[in-house]
Amino acid sequence: MGPSFTVSVCGYEAVVEALHNEDLNGRPDSAARRERTFGKRLGLMFIDGDFFREQRRFTLRHLRDLGFGRTSAEDMIQDEIREMIRVIGDQSSSDPSGVVDFKNGIFNRSVLNILWALIGGERFHRDDARLTNLLNMVDFFNRNFKPQTANVAVPGFLLRMFPSLRKILGIRNDIFEPLQNFIRTVIEEHARDRDDVPRDFIDVYLKEMEKQQMDLPEDQKQSTSFHVEQLIALVIDLFLAGAETSSNAIGFALLYMVHYPEVQRKMQAELDRICGDALPSLAHRPSLVYTEAVLIESLRLANVAPLTLMHCASKDTQLGGFNIPKASLVLINLYSVNMDETYWTDPQVFRPERHLDSDGSLLKKSERFMPFGLGKRQCLGEPLARNSFFLFTAALVKAFQLEAVPARPLPTLDPLTGVTNGYQGFQAIVTPRI
Ligand code: HEM
Repeated sequence: MGPSFTVSVCGYEAVVEALHNEDLNGRPDSAARRERTFGKRLGLMFIDGDFFREQRRFTLRHLRDLGFGRTSAEDMIQDEIREMIRVIGDQSSSDPSGVVDFKNGIFNRSVLNILWALIGGERFHRDDARLTNLLNMVDFFNRNFKPQTANVAVPGFLLRMFPSLRKILGIRNDIFEPLQNFIRTVIEEHARDRDDVPRDFIDVYLKEMEKQQMDLPEDQKQSTSFHVEQLIALVIDLFLAGAETSSNAIGFALLYMVHYPEVQRKMQAELDRICGDALPSLAHRPSLVYTEAVLIESLRLANVAPLTLMHCASKDTQLGGFNIPKASLVLINLYSVNMDETYWTDPQVFRPERHLDSDGSLLKKSERFMPFGLGKRQCLGEPLARNSFFLFTAALVKAFQLEAVPARPLPTLDPLTGVTNGYQGFQAIVTPRI
């Protein structure tokens, strides 16, 4: 790719070997990527080495303490789900045939709101202009960021000498400035009215910055990896990595319900039996075996992240007996694992039963199921993604019957391709069940 040596890794064995090879855990650098982070290597997705390890460990630990992937965040997620049920119910009742338009992005508002509550401590009202603004900024990035140019290693000085290169390569800092400014303003507000007990991730991070400034000797204060620009970059990366992926996973699962009414019926029967009148909760989850199989099958077939983020060799290494020179780009293909015919037999078919034992009462966990990657660069948002995917999808399938619109072709299962795979917006007849 460009002048860089690029290795494409396909097939289960090679993918696992690559993801567990620590020498392949680097991330490539490029001017296009730095554009999102003040021209520096900051954030979470495209940093490596000690800086990466320190920032990742800190972020994971504190997001977990704040409820990321834990039951303590469940009430907040449930509130978002109730809102979503109200919005879908209103759409259905306002159409004479009960048709609802599941546009791509319909779930982004809820997913982003949950993330923002953990990071910025505030849940926006669905119609709050600030949430709409935040959503538009993340959307704008996803539509305008060009992965094909992100890997072209153009030195920053060339961009400064020849500004027209930016246009040719699609490198645009106007995508990021509004998002950076929004987060900076919230950080400044937090710094002004913070007290000893942190309310959210921004408070925790500001506290760590203060601690490092107090603890470090004078000559090392400048070298700390905890600073405001890094905090802004880190929050941007959480939004970019988290919002669309989770929303698309929910959208694909509902789309499969329209295509496979029998699966929907079985899932609803299980949800009714186990949850009664209540919304599905994390406590119900271990008993919802069929539902779990549906969710696993949806993540497998949807291939929301068909490739990992680009990896890079931090030193000369080997993969599958081949020499991989330092600085090679490494494209790791998760699609090739999810869709491997030799293992799944009929990978294009949506069949939750493949994840169950013969009498359907036990989940068969396959080591081939790795939608979040593996190893030290495994998805940082996995606990939150797993919980919100389960809670949203199970609640919506319990709350509504989804059917194809008569006399129209079934909505397409072909994805909207990009950095991630999205579902194409679809319409369905929606009948409330609760
Ligand atoms: C269904 C939803 C999601 C899927 C399928 C998914 C999948 C992935 C995959 C495959 C990677 C790349 C791993 C690699 O490069 O080896 C990744 C990275 C990442 N994800 Fe997710 N993700 C999801 C949701 C989320 C959420 C909700 C967040 C944030 C709250 C998030 C944050 C991240 C971050 C920060 C990284 C970069 C980690 C690193 O470079 O070390 N993801 N994700």
